[in-house]
Amino acid sequence: MRKVSVIGAGNVGATCANVIARKNIVNDVVLLDIKSGVAEGKALDMWQTSSVDFFHTRVRGVTNDYEATKDSAVVVITSGLPRKPGMSRDDLISTNAKIVKDVTENVVKYSPDAIIIIVSNPLDVMAYTAFMTAKKPKNEVIGMAGILDSSRYKAFLADELNISPNCIHGLLLGGHGDTMVPLPRYTSVAGIPVQQLIPKEKLDIIIERTRKGGGELVELMGTSAWYAPGAAAAQMVEAVLQDQQCFYPVAAYLDGEYGLNDLYLGVPIILGRNGIERIVEIDLNKEERDMLDKSAASVKETLKTLKNLNILD
Ligand code: NAI
Ligand code: 2OP
Repeated sequence: MRKVSVIGAGNVGATCANVIARKNIVNDVVLLDIKSGVAEGKALDMWQTSSVDFFHTRVRGVTNDYEATKDSAVVVITSGLPRKPGMSRDDLISTNAKIVKDVTENVVKYSPDAIIIIVSNPLDVMAYTAFMTAKKPKNEVIGMAGILDSSRYKAFLADELNISPNCIHGLLLGGHGDTMVPLPRYTSVAGIPVQQLIPKEKLDIIIERTRKGGGELVELMGTSAWYAPGAAAAQMVEAVLQDQQCFYPVAAYLDGEYGLNDLYLGVPIILGRNGIERIVEIDLNKEERDMLDKSAASVKETLKTLKNLNILD
């Protein structure tokens, strides 16, 4: 019996649970929220689509009952406040750090062997919070952002080229914020370098739109996105459960890789049953390196705010 638990039954958590259920890759999905009845109701609604969409995954919702999450193979943490218009990801830090710490303690107590995927914002710093709280090996605590950010990048490139995003390979590094580092040099369409297909001025606009992709949706909807974030987290769950050994961009704890230490940052990794199987270090030119350093400095700055709050042990 394989079980996946999703903590937080809000927009992202419920979407993630729904996508996982439809993939038919696990026996049980448990959705947990602190608000009474919300997870139960959403899970029941999802379960009632099983005969329509032909999936067999049992979906169950619970209110703060971690016993129900016991022995999960993977746990996705989405609990926390989302961004509202005008709010930066960093504004969320204090409230969400307390939530992520409390949730992680419960997750580890009931599923000590689970691979933990963090979604809550500010992402790189919440992944750090979960890692420090979980006291698990660094490969088992992973932040979700790069798959989402690169899927936005690919969607914008696809619009420009009038092709399917599925023909595009695109890589991003750095923090999940406005300093993220899309890499056109490592972006291709069916193997053709994207710089041969899109002029630099247009590519620069797409890169800037990608950096601000989360904010664009907050402005449109009054809260942050959920379809693509939920699907991106579910893709990570699938990669772990299937032991895919495939390349993905994720937020990983860096311990000397890329010359950086003691922070979570977006890098390409191989994802498999052990979580991060290895971090892949790619060659960067000076401009790319400078952008990565700037992004790391911005994450370090937010980490300093977290550490000053004295929430971590
Ligand atoms: P939401 O407000 O719809 O859902 C959050 C849920 O967490 C609520 O149902 C709330 O009751 C629950 N919650 C709060 N404290 C809890 C606790 N202690 N235990 C269990 N559940 C608790 O928010 P949404 O849109 O689902 O976003 C969730 C988080 O994910 C936010 O922090 C948001 O900024 C972040 N996010 C991150 C993305 C990424 O790329 N990493 C993308 C999109 C959102
Ligand atoms: C997003 O990128 C706000 O992190 C959230 O949609």
